[in-house]
Amino acid sequence: MISIKGLKKSFGAQVVLDDLFFEIPDGKITVIIGRSGEGKSVLLKHMMGLIRPDSGEVVVDGVSLFTLDDFQLNENRKQFGMLFQNAALFDSMTVFENIAFPLVEHSVLSGNKITERVNDLISLVGMDEVVLKKFPSELSGGMRKRVGLARAIALKPKILLYDEPTTGLDPVMTDVVDHLILNTQKKLKVTSVVISHDISAVYAIADKIAMLHEGKILMDGTPDEFKNTNNEVIKNFLEGRATGEQLKDL
Ligand SMILES: Nc1ncnc2c1ncn2[C@@H]1O[C@H](COP(=O)(O)OP(=O)(O)O)[C@@H](O)[C@H]1O
Ligand SMILES: [Mg+2]
Repeated sequence: MISIKGLKKSFGAQVVLDDLFFEIPDGKITVIIGRSGEGKSVLLKHMMGLIRPDSGEVVVDGVSLFTLDDFQLNENRKQFGMLFQNAALFDSMTVFENIAFPLVEHSVLSGNKITERVNDLISLVGMDEVVLKKFPSELSGGMRKRVGLARAIALKPKILLYDEPTTGLDPVMTDVVDHLILNTQKKLKVTSVVISHDISAVYAIADKIAMLHEGKILMDGTPDEFKNTNNEVIKNFLEGRATGEQLKDL
């Protein structure tokens, strides 16, 4: 579904992506792991065409993104749904208005159809219609995630991107969000890409795992392949062990 070929991106002197190659399969959950600051979010933004690379290619469903102009890139982005870490809801809008927002902005649905669709979406993410009248500030963190997800899938995206969906959540909420990602995957059969530095979440939901390290995909494979790897860098990351290099300044 997404094919990344020789992607390079630097910010000033800092090389973030360094000739990166990667394939994201259709209809599966791919989890990209890596230490904080390795460029996971930057990689995700390239997939959506939010950042243009210095060189290389991102091909989404047969379309090479960076041959498109800005208008075409914008159009292309409609096939993506994105759930941000903080859910990024509009605080001054009700839950209903938040979820309806992309429908009003981008689609030609009538008012009644929008209401119908919002009701479908709210039940799809496991919430009751009574929350539609509430404001984000009246919701728990987990409920905000659900609303953010309902908004992300409102336009029926083919590809769902999650950037650190469980960071900052307690273990129980993490489990809830993992189930939400899995259930959404089963119901919608979309292609999902989850960015995470939270290893506990990874095995539970991943069909495929890829580790980003020093600007490249160091390894990609199944959860079992990761569990059994002999690569020291990956083992240290999975087991949460600091390396000599990281401890030298203590
Ligand atoms: N727009 C930008 N301008 C300059 N530097 C950036 C920009 N976006 C990201 N970076 C840098 O690129 C590196 C990777 O960032 P990011 O992709 O956010 O890491 P993470 O793996 O934690 O998601 C970081 O050092 C960050 O400071
Ligand atoms: Mg990030």
